[in-house]
Amino acid sequence: MRMPLWYGGDYNPEQWPEEVWAEDVALMRRAGVTLVTVGVFSWSRLEPAEGRYTFGWLDRVLDLLADGGIGVDLAVPTASPPPWFSLAHPDALTVTRDGVRLTHGSRDTYCVNAPAYREASLRITRALAERYRDHRAPVMWHVHNEYGTPCHCDHAAAAFRAWLRRRYGGLDALNDAWTTAFWGQHYSDWAQITPPRATQYLPNPAQALDFRRFVSDEMLAHFAEQRDLLRELTPGVPVTTNYVLAGWACVDHWKWSREVDLVSVDDYPSGRGMAAAEQTAFAADLARSWAGGRPWLLMEQATGYVLGPRASPKEPGEIARHSLQHVARGSKGAMFFQWRASRGGAEQWHPGMVPHAGPDSRVFREVCALGEALERIPASAGGSLIDAEVAILWDEEAWWAVQGPGLPSAEIDYLAAARQAHRVLWRQGVAVCFAHPSHDLPAYRAVLVPSLYLISDEAARNLAAYVEGGGTLVVSFFSGIADEHTRIRLGGYPGALREVLGIRVEEFRPLAEPVELPELGPATVWSEVVHLDGAEAVARYPGGGPAVTRHRVGAGTAWYVSTRLDDSGYARVLAHTGLAGSGTPGVEVVRQRDRVFAINHTEDEQPVPVDGTDLITGRPVDGRLGPGGYVVVPAQTRPAVDPRRSRDLPNHR
Ligand code: GLA
Repeated sequence: MRMPLWYGGDYNPEQWPEEVWAEDVALMRRAGVTLVTVGVFSWSRLEPAEGRYTFGWLDRVLDLLADGGIGVDLAVPTASPPPWFSLAHPDALTVTRDGVRLTHGSRDTYCVNAPAYREASLRITRALAERYRDHRAPVMWHVHNEYGTPCHCDHAAAAFRAWLRRRYGGLDALNDAWTTAFWGQHYSDWAQITPPRATQYLPNPAQALDFRRFVSDEMLAHFAEQRDLLRELTPGVPVTTNYVLAGWACVDHWKWSREVDLVSVDDYPSGRGMAAAEQTAFAADLARSWAGGRPWLLMEQATGYVLGPRASPKEPGEIARHSLQHVARGSKGAMFFQWRASRGGAEQWHPGMVPHAGPDSRVFREVCALGEALERIPASAGGSLIDAEVAILWDEEAWWAVQGPGLPSAEIDYLAAARQAHRVLWRQGVAVCFAHPSHDLPAYRAVLVPSLYLISDEAARNLAAYVEGGGTLVVSFFSGIADEHTRIRLGGYPGALREVLGIRVEEFRPLAEPVELPELGPATVWSEVVHLDGAEAVARYPGGGPAVTRHRVGAGTAWYVSTRLDDSGYARVLAHTGLAGSGTPGVEVVRQRDRVFAINHTEDEQPVPVDGTDLITGRPVDGRLGPGGYVVVPAQTRPAVDPRRSRDLPNHR
């Protein structure tokens, strides 16, 4: 018997008088809520003075929820230390790169390297675990919230130096890796090294990149300390922490995903309409890939759009469609920020499952309808139920490097390149996952490499072996250029990938104006002087130089796209490589091995290659879906699975 899906959101009862709590639970039951995250920002209400706890209110909340049959994802509230803590330990407040020590007044104002903060974090963790270890309500621990606060204070500087000593062993290796010979930055004593604080002109890119790696590792250490204590005190209760997705990546998610019991993500699309659906699919495929075949959870989304210049409601049906996009890819449920829209405080305009208008509202009616639909869909046994044909390489280190100082074009955008690769395949109905450049790749029919500026020797060998073995590799411009210390690989670009691509790039020519490529349309941002060295030109620049190349290597083929194409140009290159799906744009069909999700994101009725009985409505599906409609049907037959290319790869990096 499969577990039901989780459905609910962040619940912040401390923002409301107690009379509202009973109504909350009644409304949650009406909406089919099964799980709420409680206490994410409650530290000051739980520990109003050092070591003095006021758990009474939380006892009552958890009892009420348990009586209502609602599970609790109990938070450890370390993302928002109380005002008394910051006053007592000003050295634990974040310092920006400009040297400004932030003050209390928002959230996330801490330094994970401050000893007082580490101690206080463990103290509140222990207190919560000891208090609620035998309570009926908690089913999961939710440590912190969206880790992502870098600090440049002296505690961080000391920890950075210790991290660097572990990484490099000696100063000679560090000076070499950071190319400190440039601008006379040679370090003769560890004490001279600081985080990349504000400085006169461009900072050292290798130092900047190492600092980002360090920040990710130190935040992970803070998480792991709490996780280990929770595992000791409440064995068997899974521990998660919610990742921020896409636009902002403060941590190395491949690494983190090996440390959490459940990958959970927050997803707030910045686009609207179809663009939001595309971004949602991208986010869910990333989460599914990080989970490496295990179930994962959409921990937060919103009932409206919150990013961009203006907040707006989601259109009718979008709340359900976005939720199902995640569930279709293995999410254990659909959760929101937050249950009840706040009436005051910094996010008082953030939408909730219960909006300011109250339950007599379109949003709450849609929330109830979604709860009813989810009740009828059994939880997935995991994202590994999807057979992905294509992998897109995803590496936060490479992204951080491309966000570094002094690059030849400010318009090179790794996230945009990865999104384009995903979007183009999504529109054609091709199942995609993400992989780290060092993952085993033979399972995939094709591997797409968005502008992956930085690549290790090991990863480059991995890609070459993939092609030799029969794979199709499609590399976009500005890939393979730098080593893991952001040093340029010499002898011609794209350095580490020159041989497998069979080309040698002598010069870059960033484009100020678009140029037109025959058959492929406009080329923007970037162009290159490409010499063929075994490859053949598939498309040329107006001046005659190769723009897109193909190189047969062993049993496979490596393609190179030396400029930025628009979506249709990129789709045409993929079609040349043999990658073209048969999907209808805007109609998403996600095939798990035992059931199929079909979601129509368009405003017209559409044909869908799906038959059977819809698990949600119990009605037959006759190969058509109404505008904005969705269905989930059991798979007719289990697809034959070629074990060589059958699954998402486990996250074993
Ligand atoms: C994040 C946070 C939430 C809330 C939402 C608002 O995802 O985790 O606490 O601030 O953003 O969009």
